[in-house]
Amino acid sequence: MNLSISLTVNGVRRNVELDDPRVTLLDLLRERLDLTGTKKGCDRGQCGACTVLVDGRRINSCLALAVSLDGADILTIEGVARGSELHPLQAAFIAHDGLQCGFCTPGQIMSAIGLIEEGQAGDDPERVREGMSGNLCRCGAYAGITQAVLDAQQTLTEAKQGRAA
Ligand code: FES
Ligand code: FES
Repeated sequence: MNLSISLTVNGVRRNVELDDPRVTLLDLLRERLDLTGTKKGCDRGQCGACTVLVDGRRINSCLALAVSLDGADILTIEGVARGSELHPLQAAFIAHDGLQCGFCTPGQIMSAIGLIEEGQAGDDPERVREGMSGNLCRCGAYAGITQAVLDAQQTLTEAKQGRAA
């Protein structure tokens, strides 16, 4: 039995037929929609490499059944830049060497976008580390990651204040 779902992925409506109700959002993104920027690390909710935003909230896409997300709005790493202009978090990760091999980086960036939008990051490195603790980095690039999140948060806050002024 096929199940039809409709998702908005990076602003584009996608209608998908699922032949198995156990397909995860992660596998749907990578194998059906060719959005391979979202990485599969552990496939069991332990590493954060598969983090995406669903209706503005960060989730581990390896733990979400695609069939349960009919109508949802999904943002993946492929959707965060504006054309050739990097998202402030992408730019900050480069500026602060927040990566080595890069495998965890899409998940780190999506988690950081969620953290900043939740308003939980603050300007305290310890709070950022706590808020990002679900995203593991086997290369140990944590110092750069924390600095990148703090820097991008400041950039985004200033941009928001500029728009409000
Ligand atoms: Fe989803 Fe590791 S692949 S948490
Ligand atoms: Fe290699 Fe994080 S940069 S796992």
